[in-house]
Amino acid sequence: MKEQLTNIRNGAMAALESAATLTELEELRIQYLGKKGELTAVMKGMGGLSAEERPVIGQLANQVRGEIETALEEKKSSLEAAAANAKLESEKIDVTMPGNKPAKGKKHPLITVLDDLKDIFIGMGFSIAEGPEVELDYYNFEALNIPKDHPARDTQDTFYIDETVVMRTQTSPVQVRTMEQQKPPIRIISPGRVYRSDAMDATHSPVFHQVEGLVIDKNITMADLKGTLEVFVKKLYGEETRLRFRPHHFPFTEPSAEVDISCFNCGGEGCRICKGEGWIEILGCGMVHPKVLRNCGIDPEEYSGFAFGIGLERVAMFRYDIDDIRLFYENDVRFLEQF
Ligand code: DAH
Repeated sequence: MKEQLTNIRNGAMAALESAATLTELEELRIQYLGKKGELTAVMKGMGGLSAEERPVIGQLANQVRGEIETALEEKKSSLEAAAANAKLESEKIDVTMPGNKPAKGKKHPLITVLDDLKDIFIGMGFSIAEGPEVELDYYNFEALNIPKDHPARDTQDTFYIDETVVMRTQTSPVQVRTMEQQKPPIRIISPGRVYRSDAMDATHSPVFHQVEGLVIDKNITMADLKGTLEVFVKKLYGEETRLRFRPHHFPFTEPSAEVDISCFNCGGEGCRICKGEGWIEILGCGMVHPKVLRNCGIDPEEYSGFAFGIGLERVAMFRYDIDDIRLFYENDVRFLEQF
């Protein structure tokens, strides 16, 4: 029996030594120490031993059981540690490796320019007003002193929804809508999309953007208009920029003017950007026509005001030296990435 026990111990030790998984280990535990296990079988046979042998063999059996149990425990911890290590190894990350950069969008150049414009006017106390792009003929033309047969309609041919509804050709209708809803003093700018049935080329697009400006209060004069625009262009193009007012005609202002700035590129010498002129036209403006004020229920004897309209694309094209308006709308990433 002694020999049997020694064999069991040696067999168990060798088997434990080569066990590779926790499942194998559990199988071995059952094989040796389980109720129907080898060691149990030997102990069951102890009844047939003599009184002298029994305690000796009993002690030995207990010793073998203890040794196997200890070896099982040790093997179990070492297998568990190995498993944990393997897991750590497989989940290891190198924090010094470069990450995957998320593709980040950018502001469209037109939006950048618009944001700058808004900042400048908001800084002067203006607020932002909005109006619909699908507009009544009344607001787009009629109320702005452009009756049905007026030649000014020719230069602003648009898309007609029906007889009375058009895609707005200018942001000027927002002037009328604002004056109908607000009492003076009024100080607003209104940026937005406008439409004209123009063929697409390097400087024309059937859809483009304008920023309208309107100031109505008591005692507003042309000097206020000039002062406001001067602050605006100097903030946008630099302190050294000069302004030039050229007489012009708009049906909704009287007097009206077009405004040129000294070329920001050559300072007025004449260059490629200003086409040798030294001046660049940037907006139309004037004193709000008394008829327009009256159309909006404002008494021209009590109030006066000025208005202006800026082409956003033009400003952006000069700012970034872009020579084709179509680039703004094509959404070519190679173009957009440059700003
Ligand atoms: N609406 C004009 C256009 O689209 C621009 C303009 C000129 C707006 C004079 C104004 C203004 O407010 O006073 O050509």
